[in-house]
Amino acid sequence: MDKVAIVFGGTKGVGAAFSEKLYTLGYKVHAIGRSTPSMPKNSEVSHVAIDIEDDNSWSKIDFFLKTLNKIDVIIFNIGGSFGQYADIGGDAVYSRLLYLNYTSAVRFFNATYHLLQRSESARVIFMLSASIYDFSGNMPYVAAKFALFGYFKALSKKLCRENIVVSAIAPGPIDYPDRYLSRLRDEGGAEWEQFTRDHLPSRKLVTVEDIVSAAEYLISKEAGHCFGSIIEIRG
Ligand SMILES: NC(=O)c1ccc[n+]([C@@H]2O[C@H](COP(=O)([O-])OP(=O)(O)OC[C@H]3O[C@@H](n4cnc5c(N)ncnc54)[C@H](OP(=O)(O)O)[C@@H]3O)[C@@H](O)[C@H]2O)c1
Repeated sequence: MDKVAIVFGGTKGVGAAFSEKLYTLGYKVHAIGRSTPSMPKNSEVSHVAIDIEDDNSWSKIDFFLKTLNKIDVIIFNIGGSFGQYADIGGDAVYSRLLYLNYTSAVRFFNATYHLLQRSESARVIFMLSASIYDFSGNMPYVAAKFALFGYFKALSKKLCRENIVVSAIAPGPIDYPDRYLSRLRDEGGAEWEQFTRDHLPSRKLVTVEDIVSAAEYLISKEAGHCFGSIIEIRG
């Protein structure tokens, strides 16, 4: 039977690269996200067009999951600051970032658990952030990633008894040409120097390829004992 993978947030950036990689590894891939997946046209990745902030999203997800018999891999990739850059932030910002980085993942996991149990060697990967080590980023984002960190660790401990390997990747800032830090690096000014002094001594932003390689390892046979492991990729 086909191996089945879902990338929760698999349409853009590193999420699209996860979808593409899983496809090349022979998985039937379902990429969840609002926009059409940005990947080569010959990649047959099914697009599950859902906005998880939409009130109807969870009934759409239930409908989609009923079409599956099992799931072998889930990568939880939805997350980020979503343009919320206030250092402290009000309650609404905390609630939104908690939902997008953490609660939605818990909810999606709960909806898919029975399908993971039907796989012979299920793997689950969460996208954390180097913020859990260096507290960089705004406070609501850092707090939400810590919630995800606690959940992922407790879940990995519980699910190792069922041979479901739950692991995580904690990248530093990703080198996306259109993002603030990549532009700052390219300009090479005082703000970049300050950022590297405070948070990035290697002065290297993380590449999408670095992260996809880590995911490829975590779903490999060789990583069958990586229960609760975190691959930290940062400088
Ligand atoms: N960027 C960084 O420097 C960095 C550093 C460390 C950790 N991380 C973590 O790595 C992960 C990916 O980050 P990224 O910057 O690559 O994120 P991104 O491009 O902003 O989005 C990730 C994925 O989530 C989907 N998504 C966003 N909002 C959604 C919604 N409301 N409903 C459904 N899908 C939604 C996006 O697709 P659509 O837009 O098509 O919906 C995309 O496929 C996140 O968990 C982030 O916290 C990122």
